[in-house]
Amino acid sequence: MPKNQRIGYRGQLIPKRYRIPLLKGLNECCEYLSGNFNIKSMVEVGCYTGESTVVFANCFKEATIYAVDIWRKKLSNVEELFDARVRWHTNIEKIKQPSVMASKRFEDSSLDFVYIDGNHSYSSVRQDILKWLPKIKKDGVIGGHDFHYEGVAGAVQANLGPPVQVFQDTSWVIPCAKILKPPRFY
Ligand SMILES: C[S@@+](CC[C@H](N)C(=O)[O-])C[C@H]1O[C@@H](n2cnc3c(N)ncnc32)[C@H](O)[C@@H]1O
Repeated sequence: MPKNQRIGYRGQLIPKRYRIPLLKGLNECCEYLSGNFNIKSMVEVGCYTGESTVVFANCFKEATIYAVDIWRKKLSNVEELFDARVRWHTNIEKIKQPSVMASKRFEDSSLDFVYIDGNHSYSSVRQDILKWLPKIKKDGVIGGHDFHYEGVAGAVQANLGPPVQVFQDTSWVIPCAKILKPPRFY
């Protein structure tokens, strides 16, 4: 792969000029989180080649970053790219499991932050919200990526309410204390 490109989720090459705002936006999201929360343990649902995982690992150096993904075989060398990228980051723990199954590994109210970036359909995002929200501490924060997708925005707004902030990479965040529409059993 040429140095200035990366593979997109659907296998396409993404030129560097599109990468920069994405990473800048995620870094801004991390700055917001660092300034407002004490992130010691977090989960990223959907890690792909680990670009965002490494941003989290660098930003929250004292935290454990649990990296959840199924890494389907049909996406050729994506898992290998992930493994190579996170290799030297001792604060990343890889969990190769579907999101819902992985959520069962965690105690309720044990995480400071969950970032949802797995399957982007309305029903999957809703399911991720419902499964992961109870795992976050009451003074923690939930967020994710791709708020410009209809399924993502719809599921977030219907089940949590509006994000307090959407960053330029379309990462969204909502502190648990500011959730306007807590799901029924939360
Ligand atoms: C958009 S990519 C993640 C991109 C990554 N966060 C980044 O910014 O570089 C979505 C990822 O979610 C994973 N995924 C999809 N459905 C999932 C599920 N049910 N459980 C876990 N991972 C899932 C896919 O394998 C894929 O790697």
